Amino acid sequence: MNHAATPLGMLDTAAIRADFPILNQQINGHPLVYLDNGATTQKPAQVIEALEHFYKVDYSNVHRGIHTLSQRATERFENARQTVRHFIGADSEKEIIFTRGTTESINLVAHSWGDKNLHAHDEILVSEMEHHSNIVPWQILAQKKQARVVPIPIDDDGALNMAAFHQRLSAKTRIVAITELSNALGTLPPLDEIILAAHKVGAVVLVDGAQSVAHKAVNVAELDCDFYAFSGHKVYGPSGIGILYAKQTLLEHMPPYQSGGDMISEVSFTGTTYNALPYKFEAGTPNIVGADGLAIALNYLSNIGLNNIAQHEANLLSYATDKALEIPGLHIVGSAKYKAGILSFVIDGVHATDLGTLLNQQGVAIRVGHHCAMPVMQRFNLVSTARISLGIYNTIEDIDICFTSINKALEILA
Ligand code: ALA
Repeated sequence: MNHAATPLGMLDTAAIRADFPILNQQINGHPLVYLDNGATTQKPAQVIEALEHFYKVDYSNVHRGIHTLSQRATERFENARQTVRHFIGADSEKEIIFTRGTTESINLVAHSWGDKNLHAHDEILVSEMEHHSNIVPWQILAQKKQARVVPIPIDDDGALNMAAFHQRLSAKTRIVAITELSNALGTLPPLDEIILAAHKVGAVVLVDGAQSVAHKAVNVAELDCDFYAFSGHKVYGPSGIGILYAKQTLLEHMPPYQSGGDMISEVSFTGTTYNALPYKFEAGTPNIVGADGLAIALNYLSNIGLNNIAQHEANLLSYATDKALEIPGLHIVGSAKYKAGILSFVIDGVHATDLGTLLNQQGVAIRVGHHCAMPVMQRFNLVSTARISLGIYNTIEDIDICFTSINKALEILA
């Protein structure tokens, strides 16, 4: 099957859409238009079938048995780790930890690295555009350690205020926690500049890749970030599986996050030793089948090509932005020069929830609300926005239907 981009940079969406059975349905009597990929992405048949095959043919527990099924399950699980490693450009499989998702990955770092490395009066720099999952774990850690969370402000256009970042970065900064792509604004902060500057003051950098990893190529070794977190369900894979990438040198000195089976080397009542990396951070039976599904999803994306995907979604975003600007009273929230895949907006006199409800009645799925980024809403004096978030199966026709539906909704609300 050929999913390659055409010379215009548009993907072969007909072939891609044929892989996503869920898209082929009516919602409230209208063909489904799914524009809520920021919340979660749909799954291609290749992923669904791999999950089914795993449970039907190869399933058992991993790392624990000499019987054939356990060996097969272990092989699929460890092959998945290799796939993730190659996909994000990590140097070693020891740096790839399976978690439940981005949230657990960040909590792992906050608890394990944070407990060991953060002290009273230290500072954690966190941008104002972070998802709650990249704010609250740091607040809890800071409270415990009598340290401080220092926000990096956002400019009016939704870009990160880099002057403020450089001003607030100091020898007190121990970690910078930053999104690669804001789920509420679409902003792509300048990670290269941030990471270089943070390292100069001796701080480490955690990148929240939850929104970006399915939409642009990532290479953690080239980026030189210290931690990188993402979720399976936002990369067309299963939910309940995610990744923490961390530099091996950091992981070696971090204490376990959770404890139990598989993360140990020897247990006795006189003392317990821990397993080698990455298993030291994988206590208990993992989401074995989810890991395999994630790898299938990543292979699916690699087959299309991340640069082709980025170009496709940039084309759609540009088209959607032009359509949005034609609507009187519509204000785009987040128009930074460097942005991707997300169009957040408000319309004068219209509640986002009413708009979302009327779009759903016409078969169009968007997200409305604070997008788990309340500080962004506070920054722009808003309670909520309506958000279109793009994916590989979206088309110009989807955008046209969405904006026709918005205009119909506005007629009803007028
Ligand atoms: N973080 C997800 C979103 O942006 C749920 O919608």
